[in-house]
Amino acid sequence: MDTFYDDPHTKPPLDASLYSLTDPDELQFFRTLTGIQDERELKQHVLNVQKRAYDLYGYPCIRRFNFLRLNNSRLPGYPKALKLLQDPDHKHPILLDIGCCFGNDTRKFIIDGWPAQEVIASDLREGMYSIYFRPIRFWQCGHELFNSTPSSFPVTFIQGDIFDPAFLSLPSTSSNPNPNPNPNPNPNSTFELAQVESQPTRPNLSTLKSLTPLLHRVSAIHASALFHLFSKAQQLELAQRLAALLLPQKGSIIFGTHVARREKGFRKSAVQKINNGTGLGSTDSHSASAPECEPQATPILMFCHSPSSWRADVGSNKFSMGPAHLRFALKLNWCITRAWIYYTTQLLV
Ligand SMILES: C[S@@+](CC[C@H](N)C(=O)[O-])C[C@H]1O[C@@H](n2cnc3c(N)ncnc32)[C@H](O)[C@@H]1O
Repeated sequence: MDTFYDDPHTKPPLDASLYSLTDPDELQFFRTLTGIQDERELKQHVLNVQKRAYDLYGYPCIRRFNFLRLNNSRLPGYPKALKLLQDPDHKHPILLDIGCCFGNDTRKFIIDGWPAQEVIASDLREGMYSIYFRPIRFWQCGHELFNSTPSSFPVTFIQGDIFDPAFLSLPSTSSNPNPNPNPNPNPNSTFELAQVESQPTRPNLSTLKSLTPLLHRVSAIHASALFHLFSKAQQLELAQRLAALLLPQKGSIIFGTHVARREKGFRKSAVQKINNGTGLGSTDSHSASAPECEPQATPILMFCHSPSSWRADVGSNKFSMGPAHLRFALKLNWCITRAWIYYTTQLLV
């Protein structure tokens, strides 16, 4: 057990009273996709899958049933991404749902028209399902949740760590001699357009084993509740790695949401709540060794940008790790009550 959320003794117990499926669109979504109409049966089904996923890794968002929400499809970037399906400059646009967990957002995209064969879902998590002793991933929990199989829902899922150079290897350039910028990304480095143009033809998505063949190929990237799992330096690196995947065409987009603070810094209240057992906040092996850890704090920390620090540190300048001639526009919506940033980073040229 390497972290708080892995360890059954430290992670907060599940609480069925947090379950709610009252939003009519969300209820309809789950009834349609699971095929379960009866609300009591649906609830029991969700609780069963939630338990299996929580045994795998105890993310607070799983405990809070965030996977039942359609919130990410209500982000400002969502309709902008869908619009690319009609854009002649984005022929057969590829969508990447990174940190997809169960794939509930992936499924929403497909219901709303994104062709399943043009979608890649990717996530880190793998573990052991204790009853059948077979490997299980959040993605498989998604199949159980939605009563689907790889043939009935034929989206390509690839497991991997977005920071792992074997999973996403950035091209080296004269200005970026180190293709794998971890742990000290160079915010001034850029990729050369020549590299984009020399890419081989579009890869066969169904046989992908890593994200590297998708460099400069992806029209839309959805990354929600992902950035806040990492340290400040890693958030910047993550932005750069995602930007490197973008197709260098006007309209290409990275969007999503994550926890934020009015002033950048650590989410101390989350740490206190974790300590008294309510289990808010988040961590991952990456954040446990965060270079910006406060000396007196527990390793369970969440480094949160404010809207202005996100703009300055991770914003348009740093996202422009893509081809040098491209300009990015960054739009931020800041939801104070929920303390989340909604970000939309879109290519202008
Ligand atoms: C908090 S969940 C968010 C799930 C979903 N995107 C959402 O908005 O509800 C974070 C997800 O990111 C995945 N993740 C964490 N670290 C990752 C990494 N280094 N590379 C890829 N995925 C990662 C986790 O396994 C988990 O499924």
